Amino acid sequence: MTASKPDTATLSQDNFQITAFEPTHLDGALRLSAEAGWPHRTEDWQLALSVSKGVVALAGGEVVGTALCSPFGDVAAMNMIIVDARMRGRGLGRALMEQVIAFGGARELRLTATADGLPLYEKLGFAACGKVLQHQGIAQDATPELPVYTGDVQDMPALAALDLQASGLSRAGLLAVIAAQGEVLRCGNGFALLRDFGRGRVLGPVVGQDVASAAALMAEAARRCAGQFLRVDLPSDAGLSKTATQLGLVAAGGGVAMKKAAKTRAPSNYKTFALLSQALG
Ligand SMILES: CC(C)(COP(=O)(O)OP(=O)(O)OC[C@H]1O[C@@H](n2cnc3c(N)ncnc32)[C@H](O)[C@@H]1OP(=O)(O)O)[C@@H](O)C(=O)NCCC(=O)NCCS
Repeated sequence: MTASKPDTATLSQDNFQITAFEPTHLDGALRLSAEAGWPHRTEDWQLALSVSKGVVALAGGEVVGTALCSPFGDVAAMNMIIVDARMRGRGLGRALMEQVIAFGGARELRLTATADGLPLYEKLGFAACGKVLQHQGIAQDATPELPVYTGDVQDMPALAALDLQASGLSRAGLLAVIAAQGEVLRCGNGFALLRDFGRGRVLGPVVGQDVASAAALMAEAARRCAGQFLRVDLPSDAGLSKTATQLGLVAAGGGVAMKKAAKTRAPSNYKTFALLSQALG
């Protein structure tokens, strides 16, 4: 999908309006994410929007800002926060964030901050709670050290319950959609989803009881994607950065995990070893 650029003359501080994010805004949103250097395709935006309530800023009828709030039970993910480069530094990012924070209500709010966004989120009461390491590259063939097999879409309600234990995110519907479009990988103590995203494929979430299971799931994904572009977004405490690099997925930046109104969660035997995405946690 292509998107025309707004006329610079129409972009002034005073003439933008903030309105509900509708599917008709996807073309303009895609232009913003591409200009910010993000790899999202129209399908990736559609998936995010399908589980979100969002806002856009319009100037001269064109999309010059976006923000989504994705509620997953007691937690909401704030994501796809972008302001047109020509409109930055004028309060538009804050105005968009205030809207989606209100959509989150009493939930714990989470996001993955870029260096651009970090100062704004700190001012809005978000606190850093970790780092996310983005690893990507051409996957190398590998042999998992534990047995990994293909799961079924019908397994998803049970697997979504493990994801909820690990992450606190109640997102069974989203996981079922992703599983139907992609591949479900399972091992004795965990599971992972593999799907198309951005420049190639992405592995996530990876949920398991131990790092050996998570490493086996990642190796199986690399085997299935050998020679293709594969991405994985790792919480820095997951202990999988070295494994990813050995599979051809090199460090490519990342972000700061942040929370606002954080809630205490019940301890779980399951842990998130890779995010579904930086946007959706
Ligand atoms: C992050 C982004 C959305 C911010 O949009 P923006 O319209 O420029 O933000 P605002 O003008 O509302 O500024 C936000 C606040 O951050 C402050 N701020 C910005 N950069 C700062 C810095 N380096 N140090 C301290 N404060 C800073 C501003 O002063 C402002 O504070 P105020 O509201 O108290 O005056 C925009 O830079 C962007 O789209 N970047 C590219 C995409 C991206 O990285 N998005 C974030 C994804 S998590």
